[in-house]
Amino acid sequence: MEQVIKIENVHKWYKMGENSLEVLKGVSLQVDEGEFLAILGPSGSGKSTLMNIIGCMDDFQEGQYWLAGEPVHEMNDAQLTYMRNAQIGFIFQKYHLIGKYTVLQNVMMPLLIRGYSHRKAAEIAAERLEMLEMGNRLSHKPNELSGGQQQRVAIARALVGHPKLLLADEPTGALDSATGREVLKLFEELNEKGHTIVMITHDLQVASHAKRIVKIIDGELFEEGEPAKASSM
Ligand SMILES: Nc1ncnc2c1ncn2[C@@H]1O[C@H](COP(=O)(O)OP(=O)(O)OP(=O)(O)O)[C@@H](O)[C@H]1O
Ligand SMILES: [Mg+2]
Repeated sequence: MEQVIKIENVHKWYKMGENSLEVLKGVSLQVDEGEFLAILGPSGSGKSTLMNIIGCMDDFQEGQYWLAGEPVHEMNDAQLTYMRNAQIGFIFQKYHLIGKYTVLQNVMMPLLIRGYSHRKAAEIAAERLEMLEMGNRLSHKPNELSGGQQQRVAIARALVGHPKLLLADEPTGALDSATGREVLKLFEELNEKGHTIVMITHDLQVASHAKRIVKIIDGELFEEGEPAKASSM
């Protein structure tokens, strides 16, 4: 079983004038291929900070991080950009689709960045949208779709380049509960097909769709079942 994420003793702090604020206090985490993991924690616990590090979007002061076996802690900006495009499919609370582009163009984007021809990218993107039941909306703009449809397009975009990791930050946060459950069901189906998913959320109901839950409390991680020192959860 290949290891997708290996994080060892990562510390992250922000300098605030004279003082520094430690936001991640020695985080270690391993995620194997095929896992569906939820990182569950209250507001301010460090979820977005950790997501930004896992997503190769932010640096850290101490510790080591390997993504798909590659040492992220040793990479320069160009290498980090490459990792983001090649290894990770991002899914955000607010979809982050490009408003001036059509559904099809949005999903083609990761492939065009990788140098696929326009024709090949369009063919693969259309196929992927078809699989997510969005094949009849290819020329719509994002603002001509429902929230649930926009998230399906974002999931199609995240999947189109066959990333090693799907990384989702509150993916149902902007959806009503029924539509949110549909998106979570889709995640479960994708995981059954072998996709590795890390989902960040403050909502236990949402987290309970994952196969494994890790709690984050005040910058520290606890496997579910391990005693957490805080009583707030
Ligand atoms: N750029 C920054 N400079 C200083 N402190 C920051 C910065 N970004 C975040 N923090 C602090 O780090 C802590 C963790 O923030 P983070 O955004 O990771 O929390 P979160 O778990 O994602 O919360 P939420 O659920 O509200 O999104 C917070 O106490 C926050 O105030
Ligand atoms: Mg956050």
